[in-house]
Amino acid sequence: MSALNRTPEGIPRHIAIIMDGNGRWAKQRGMPRIAGHRQGYKTVRRIVQQSLDLGVEALTLYTFSVENWKRPSEETGAIMRLIGMAARRELANLHRNGVRIIISGRLNTLSQEIRRALDQAMTVTRENQRLVLNLAINYGGRAEIVDAARRIAALVREGKLDPQEIDEETFSGYLYTPELPDPDLLIRTSGELRVSNFLLWQIAYTEIWVTPVLWPDFRESHLLEAVEDYARRQRKFGDIPQESKASV
Ligand code: IPE
Ligand code: IPE
Ligand code: MG
Repeated sequence: MSALNRTPEGIPRHIAIIMDGNGRWAKQRGMPRIAGHRQGYKTVRRIVQQSLDLGVEALTLYTFSVENWKRPSEETGAIMRLIGMAARRELANLHRNGVRIIISGRLNTLSQEIRRALDQAMTVTRENQRLVLNLAINYGGRAEIVDAARRIAALVREGKLDPQEIDEETFSGYLYTPELPDPDLLIRTSGELRVSNFLLWQIAYTEIWVTPVLWPDFRESHLLEAVEDYARRQRKFGDIPQESKASV
């Protein structure tokens, strides 16, 4: 996947989005928070389609965090039902469009019903190559790193891995989605200036774009704005620009 590198010039290969602001959107309208999540689902459909149109290789959507279980069970239950329903309802269309669905997160603690819907989505779409849609569900960036460390420790204990051989590349290989390149662009809606335990390892050099727009109000024009802003940025990864090197 990462070897393909077929994204058009200037377009991020991998976009990650913290889809925030559903609750505030609903509250502003005197509606229950879940109405905001339902509206947020409509935005997801638009943005997946637009990512296909733009030629993005991977789209990671922060859908539910491990910390979101702190919320009232009415809300978490409704979000989980919405995820299960959406996975079933969208599957045929996503498959037709060449979307491969993968999941980042601790799936084993989710209800059997949700797991079945997500497993089926992953299995049916596993050969698709046009866009990888990575859904971060019951996801925590620290949890992901801990899970990788546990797997690595088990291999070391079994004598299958030498601790001296563990470098950043090896470590990345034990994260949830070793096949994806790191995100080029991280978008957060609703104006919060924090990462909220999202992709802690992978966003080391990701470009960040924050908008005050609430996720249910996020439109194609906003994504275009983010992508255009990204195209104007100079990524340096700790280096200095080539043209500055002559005059060091
Ligand atoms: C993001 O919207 C969706 C989830 C976290 C599941 P929120 O529900 O966090 O909306 P706000 O931040 O309360 O407005
Ligand atoms: C991040 O949003 C999680 C998702 C978008 C799924 P939160 O609303 O949970 O983040 P905080 O609590 O504002 O940091
Ligand atoms: Mg929020």
